[in-house]
This record gives sequence, C-alpha cells and structure tokens, in this order.
Amino acid sequence: MTGNEIRESYLRFFESKGHKILPSASLIPVNDPSILWTAAGMVPFKPFFTGAAKPDYTRVTTCQKCIRTPDIESVGRTARHHTFFEMLGNFSFGDYFKESAIPWAWEYVTEHLRLPPDKLWVTIYLDDDEAFDIWHKVVGVPAERIVRLGKDTNFWEIGVGPCGPCSEIYVDLGAERGCGSPDCEVGCDCDRYLEIWNLVFIQFFRDEEGNYTPLASKGIDTGFGLERVASVLQGVPSNFDTDLLREIMDYTAGLFGLEYGRENKVDVALKVIADHCRAITFAITDGALPSNEGRGYVIRRLLRRAARFGRLLGIQELFLYKVGGAVVRQMGRAYPELAERQDHVLSVIHNEEKRFSETLAQGTEMLNRLMEEAKKQGSSVIPGADAFKLYDTYGFPLELTQEMAEEQGFTVDTDGFGRAMEDQRQRARSARQETEYISERGALFKKMREEMGETNFVGYDALEARASVQGILRDGERVKSAQAGEEVEFILDVTPCYAESGGQVGDHGRLAAPELKVEIYEVTKPVENLIVHRGKVINGILKEHDQVSVEVDVARRLATCRNHSATHLLHKALKMVLGDHVNQAGSLVEPDRLRFDFTHYAAIDAGEIKKVEDIVNDSVLNDFTIEVFESSVDEARAMGAAALFGEKYGERVRVVKMGDFSLELCGGTHLKNTAEVGLFKLVGESSVGAGLRRVEAVTGQGALRYVNAREEQLAEIARLVKAAPHEVVRRVEGLLENNRELEAENEALQARLARYQVHDLINSVKTVKGIKVLAGEAAAPDMDSLRGMVDLLRDKIESGVIILGSTAGDKVNLVAAVTKDLLPGGLHAGKLVKEVAAVVGGGGGGRPEMAQAGGKDPSRLREALEKASQVVEKQLKL
Ligand code: ALA
Repeated sequence: MTGNEIRESYLRFFESKGHKILPSASLIPVNDPSILWTAAGMVPFKPFFTGAAKPDYTRVTTCQKCIRTPDIESVGRTARHHTFFEMLGNFSFGDYFKESAIPWAWEYVTEHLRLPPDKLWVTIYLDDDEAFDIWHKVVGVPAERIVRLGKDTNFWEIGVGPCGPCSEIYVDLGAERGCGSPDCEVGCDCDRYLEIWNLVFIQFFRDEEGNYTPLASKGIDTGFGLERVASVLQGVPSNFDTDLLREIMDYTAGLFGLEYGRENKVDVALKVIADHCRAITFAITDGALPSNEGRGYVIRRLLRRAARFGRLLGIQELFLYKVGGAVVRQMGRAYPELAERQDHVLSVIHNEEKRFSETLAQGTEMLNRLMEEAKKQGSSVIPGADAFKLYDTYGFPLELTQEMAEEQGFTVDTDGFGRAMEDQRQRARSARQETEYISERGALFKKMREEMGETNFVGYDALEARASVQGILRDGERVKSAQAGEEVEFILDVTPCYAESGGQVGDHGRLAAPELKVEIYEVTKPVENLIVHRGKVINGILKEHDQVSVEVDVARRLATCRNHSATHLLHKALKMVLGDHVNQAGSLVEPDRLRFDFTHYAAIDAGEIKKVEDIVNDSVLNDFTIEVFESSVDEARAMGAAALFGEKYGERVRVVKMGDFSLELCGGTHLKNTAEVGLFKLVGESSVGAGLRRVEAVTGQGALRYVNAREEQLAEIARLVKAAPHEVVRRVEGLLENNRELEAENEALQARLARYQVHDLINSVKTVKGIKVLAGEAAAPDMDSLRGMVDLLRDKIESGVIILGSTAGDKVNLVAAVTKDLLPGGLHAGKLVKEVAAVVGGGGGGRPEMAQAGGKDPSRLREALEKASQVVEKQLKL
C-alpha cells in the first residue's frame, strides 16, 4: 500500500465505525500557548476532552500533520527520526472507551492491513487490568505478548491538558533487525520492535503545576504513525525508504545527478533535506515565517540546516524551494492548502535560503578559523562569544554551529553563548532606557499625572463633555493661564478627544466656556493614561481650574472611524486572499486615508487587489453590526481574535467584532455598522522592506472625492480627444495608431529632406586658398542629426572643412569637421567651432577633426557661419 492508500484506508475504516472524518488542523496550535507546534492528533481537540467546548461529533478521525523538534540533529542519521510526520488517529469525546478502541485497532491492523498476529505485541500501563482483559479475553492476544510498562512509556501527555495511560501495538520486524542482546524485548531501543499505534485512554487533566485531576468524562485518543506503518507494509528498512519520503529524495537526487543508497554521506543529506523541506513547506503554509524567535526560529534552523547539507553535497545554487515544490506535488492532494499557497511558500523559502547563502561561506570560513585557533591552543571548545558572533553576524543558529563543530570533534561553550546573548539584550535595554531617561517631556508628564490623576477618556461613547482644566503648559513650561493668540498644551480631567495611538490619529476639537474659545488640533498620550491637548486660544483667557465644555470635530472623527473600521475589514480580506501569514505590521488611520503595512513576500497583482477591494466592499454592503466589548485576553483568543503582533495587552482587552467577519483586539474608535464605511477604494500598493507590503485606501467622502477626480480626469481626456467618455478607449487607440503612422511618415520625410539639404549644401561649397569650405544652415531637430549630416557631407566632399548650424527653439547647434588629409595643415575643427559659436553667444569645442558647440542667439546664426571662411583662412596662415 502506498502512503496515500494507507491514509485513505484508515480514515474510511473509522468512518465505517461512525466517525466523522475531519481535515488536519493547522500546525500552529490555536489558543494553546503551552506548545509551539501541533505535535499530535489530539492537540486541536483538547477542549473537547476537557469539556471546555462542545464538539459537533463525539467520534472523529483525522490525519494530522505534526511537527516535533526535540531531535533535529538526529534527523537523517536514523531510520525513524523526523521533524514533520503524519499521525492518523481516532478520537472519542465521552463516547466509546477501551472496550471499543482496542478491538477496532486489532481489527484494522490484522484484517485490513493484514499484519500477521504472531508478529504483533502489545503494551499496557502497569496496573491497567481492564486493558489486559480486553486484549486477552476479548481480542485473544496471548498473555505472554502483553507487556506491562511504566509511566515513562505508557502514560501519555502533552503540555497542559487531557492525558492518560496508554496501550501500544508493536510489530516484531525479526531478530535480524535486532540488537542481538539476550534482553532484547518490546521497549528495547533497537530496530527490532517497532511501535505503530498508541491508544491513549484519556481520563486526567494536567495543569500548569503538573497536578492531575480526573476528567468528568473519559475519552480516547490514538496515534498511528503513517510513515512507520508504510515502512512495515512496504517492507523497507526505514521511513525514508517509503514512497512518502523516497519520492522527494529521488527528486533532489535527480536534480543534481546523485544516487541514493551508495554513499552514507549523500544518503544522510538527502534525508535531512527531504524531512526539513516537508516541515518548512507545511509550516510556512500554515502561516509561520522564518525569524529569530519561537516557531520562526525553528523554521530558520531547519531551513539553514537543510541548506548546509546541500552545500555538503556540493550544491552551490538555491534549491530548497524546488524541493518544496516537490513536497507540494507529492502531498498537495491530501493537503489542498499546500497547492493554494505554494507561490507564497516557495518564495519565502527562496528568500530565506538566499539570505543564508550570502553568509554561509563566510560563516563556515570563520568557524574553520575558530577551530584551528582552538586546536593551536590545545582546546576543543569554541568560545561562546564566537558562536554568538556567528549567530549574530552570519545567521548561524547555535545548534547548526554545534553540529558543524561536532563533525570535527569540537564542542561549543553554550553557557558562554547564552551570556553573550544576554549581554546584547542588556545593551539594547540600557540603550532604550537612556532614550527614555533623556525624554524630559516624559518625566514632566509623569509628574503631572501624579499630581492631577489620570485622564478620564469618554470619547468611545460621547463626542462632548464637561471638564475642568487641570494644568496648562506654554512652550513646555507650566503656566496658570494663557491669552488669546497663544499656543498651549493643556490637560483636562475628562475628555472626549481620542489621543493618537494604535495608528489612529488624534481628534481635533474645540474647548469653550463663556467668553473663551480654544481650537484643539493635536491630542496625544505622552505617558500612559494622560491625555494632552494642544491648541490655540482664539479668544478669552484659558485658566487652570476653568470649567469648560469640550467637543470633538465630529466630521473628522467620523471620517477617521470609517477608515479604522475599513482597516479591520481590509486586514481580514488580505488574509482571505493572500493567506494566513498576512499580519499587521503597521497601520495609519487618518480622516483622509488609511495605510496598512503587513507581512507578505511578493508583490500583489491587480487581480488580487481587485479581490481584496471586492471583499471589503461586500462586507460593507453586508451591513455588519460593529460590536465593541471588553473581555479577558484568553476569552478573546478563544473567540479567534486577531491579536496585533508585539502589542502588550493588560488583563482586560477591548474586542472589536464586525458580524462574523472580523474580530480584532483594538483600542481605536469605530463605526456602529460597516455600511457607514460607504465606498472603499484601494489606491496604492507598494513594498516597504523585505517581506513587508503596504496598501493605501480611502473610504466615505475620501473615496467619493477619489472617484470624482477620476471621473473628471476621464471627462477631461474625453474633451481633449473629442469623444464621449464611453468612446474614449476606442478613440485613444485610433489616435495612437494614427500617431504611429505619422511617426513613420515623418521619419521617411526627414531622411528625404536630409538628402535634399545635402545636395543644396554641396552646391554652396566655397574655396579658400584651394581648400573646400562648406558653411551652411541646416534643418536638423537636434545635435545628433546635425552630426549625421556633417558625416554625410564629409564623405561627399572627400577633402575640406565643414561647419553646419541649426536652430532648435531659441538655441543654436553647431557641428564642425575637418577631413583627415588637412589636419597637418593646421586646420582644427574644435577651434573653428569655438570661434564661430562665440558669435551666437555660446561655446564648445572638441577634437581637430570633429567638434560641436551650442549657442543662444539664433538671429546671428547666419553671421556666425559667414565668419567660418575667415577663421579657416586665419588657421591656414598660422
Ligand atoms: N496522542 C498520542 C500520541 O501522540 C496518541 O502518541
């Protein structure tokens, strides 16, 4: 059976037992900070086991893509280590338990996969007599083939969540695959007994502290390793020899004329490349991106390790993205998301590989040098600070440096590496603190906040408020009052004015009291929870403790809200069109427009732009209610809120929800309903750095202005080309065609004209002391064509002096030439043209045989040319 056939057969078997087949969940666990990757089939179902969420089906079966990374360095060197693998599983959420799970597993393995029962062994948890009885009495496995093992192998758990004792099925691959030790039995580390299926009897919840509490209802979680089972059924010695991986290794080997199975070094490299390319292709498809932290660092490590193994094979070009393509081809049927996002994924791989390849050679050289130095000093340890330098300058993950060093019998001082890393962090921190320290303004406002308390912002619901003036600053100094005409900053106890933050600009507004008016044109939050207004006193005197009314510039606020709500719709639409890797990297929300920066590796084509714009406009027309509410961070995540990368939220967060379309954590101001956005138009798309794109858009009045301006432009064009707007395209096409014809015709005429002129000019040749002198005016549009004419004339007269002048607008062009035979006689084109040009108020010069000049006075061109004969005569006398 091929890998694809096994997958299909397993899912169908459990479907026949009443299970719902669900697609694989993302490799990036949702709402589960306790683990980095989805590393088992049960991970997406944790809440169903614990009862935190209610499942639609109580029996489910899946083939889950998984990543496990503890043994990256072993991958390629053993038969079974992978970072990426597929785990088939069947799950019961409070439905069936051991009594069904065990017999079904046996039925599938012996009747469908036809594995001989006398080659099968099972393990159970120490005191699990219930499981023993089912295996022995119900299924009929002989008692001596049921092995009791302890917590380290037969109790299963992952991070925080549901867990329990387990029971495994092993295949005996034969004594010849074993270690030969007399103690060799199930559970031995050698290759003889291979675990193919793990049945977990979920009955506990493990919390952060490691306490186990019994669950209200029991469940089943099983894990059946696809690659392992394939290796058994296909009778091959390792997972890499199954069709699932072999095809990818053969592809790589084929690219570079290598052969698998002849040389260990080549085999290891092919295995590493195949495994790591599967992992990064799947992980990037699910939205991970290479970086220096967390998941991103894993991707970076895997990709760079694979790249280096490519170099060890002598591959110099970028190739991992091609292997990624092979992964997509091989697995795309089972995982359609691979094919959908492959352009993005392969370009991420290509970019990252390129970045690394630019420093790989230098880094390797540096490492070799370090090892030589260490050897000279009789040491076999690479200092941590040096390993850190390799990491920092050449992008060598520590583990890669370690692996490369180990290949030559060296180790790396990892503690020293850690210290160097910490030092760098410390330096960055103190640099930051310094800038904070020198911010006197920050200190001043902190003091003011202590004195007058935090500002009560009421502007989410109200657009005006009564307030009392708490403090006034003029030119950064505290004052008690300010007069008409003065610019001031002031703090109120209550304000409806939104202070610039989260990319949204601050409000404008007005402050008023009897006989007092202040225009507000900047609102900021220089320190947490203190809002500072900047404005100008229009009339009256603004005094501390004044009781005033404040109102927001409503039209401007509303326009800003339009752009902010539209930004959320845009964010979601970009994810839908380009993929889940799209994340907000920066945002600017103004009344006139919005700007949105996000992670994406390629330019966005016109078709995608159109799709994004359509999705946003559709959700505007769908009239989604916009709800804003507070919740805990966890609740918000559980609802699937898109949190902004790198932002820190307090305990309670503000959630902005637009129908079922968009959910984001956000502190900005929004519309009540998406319909208020009016029209949404994308007006620009560009790159703003590696892997970062920017789009700009307008809404509401701004969009209307944009469309109106476009219409006016069209009307103007229509007027100019004398056509109705709907006929403009045809008319312009006609004009362009016409223009092409005229250009061709003009060229032909120019050529003819030049020939006529040459003819006329030849007839005007004079003789000065036996030398032919041709000085004349020509019609030539530019210097080049004038020079062309001089060339023609020189060929014609064979021996002589030529100087031509032409006018182009209010400028004069002059070109002079002397045939070679006359040069020894003292004639010099450069000097000639210089003197002649002086008459038309210009200058220039050049070589004896050819020169050019410009002038500014066309009215004296004739006079200038007449001078040519005299100059020639003078040159001949010298
Ligand atoms: N969750 C169990 C495992 O991964 C089935 O082995």
